[in-house]
Amino acid sequence: MLTAKNLFQEIIDNDESFQLFCSIAASGEAQGGWENGRIAALVAPGLRDLAPKISRHGADEDKHGRIFHALMRKRGLEPVPVPPETDYTMLLEQRGIGLAHDKLRREEPLSEQDIVVYLSHSRVTEQRAADQMELLVKYFGDHPELGRAIHMIDNDEVNHLAYCHEELLRLNRQGHGRLIQRVLRECALAEIQVYRDVSLAVMSHMGRILRWPKAKAAVLAAGIHAVYAYERAAGWHKMVDLRMPERRDALGGPATPAPAF
Ligand SMILES: [Fe+2]
Ligand SMILES: [Fe+2]
Repeated sequence: MLTAKNLFQEIIDNDESFQLFCSIAASGEAQGGWENGRIAALVAPGLRDLAPKISRHGADEDKHGRIFHALMRKRGLEPVPVPPETDYTMLLEQRGIGLAHDKLRREEPLSEQDIVVYLSHSRVTEQRAADQMELLVKYFGDHPELGRAIHMIDNDEVNHLAYCHEELLRLNRQGHGRLIQRVLRECALAEIQVYRDVSLAVMSHMGRILRWPKAKAAVLAAGIHAVYAYERAAGWHKMVDLRMPERRDALGGPATPAPAF
């Protein structure tokens, strides 16, 4: 039967598809790490208190990148180039979502508005990351090769999402509410499209590697379009609400080390 779990299982079981999956994931994490590192360095002078948390966020994402590399190494696999159409982070940046990389490469301090944009963008993308990790934990939390890595990344993504909620609520109280709402909405509506396009691209690469019959590929593509239709109609609201998380100050301490990876 064609289920999400079976699909992942197939991708994990084959070295070439596993290699592509981990390479795409590692590259997204590393880009997130770089972005956060730069934002921490350039954070608006009035919001310097946030710098350690933004650094920690970046350190976590870098760690996730290393974990995906370690998973490949354990199987004797090297990372492969990421096809541009599967590069979620880059496609979002190209659509003007989040802070432009050009801006982050400069040495000029960011404004408070820039930080609002960064946190709103993160609130949306960390929701996606947390939801995906939740799914992986559900299906492969006990997997001998992947279980520990998946649990660790999942825990971090829940922290990242909690941190975004908490800090955005703080900025909301400081008078940034309208900007936050506008940016969240823009980000969410663009993200669901990019996510759909990336999902279609990833599945088409996987289909080629795993020699999926045309009918199977067609069912999968239809499923991805159905998810998008649901998200466009209703699901995107989940990405823009703000509520005080149970975990407070989730990024308050240093990053949890991952010596096994
Ligand atoms: Fe991550
Ligand atoms: Fe994250």
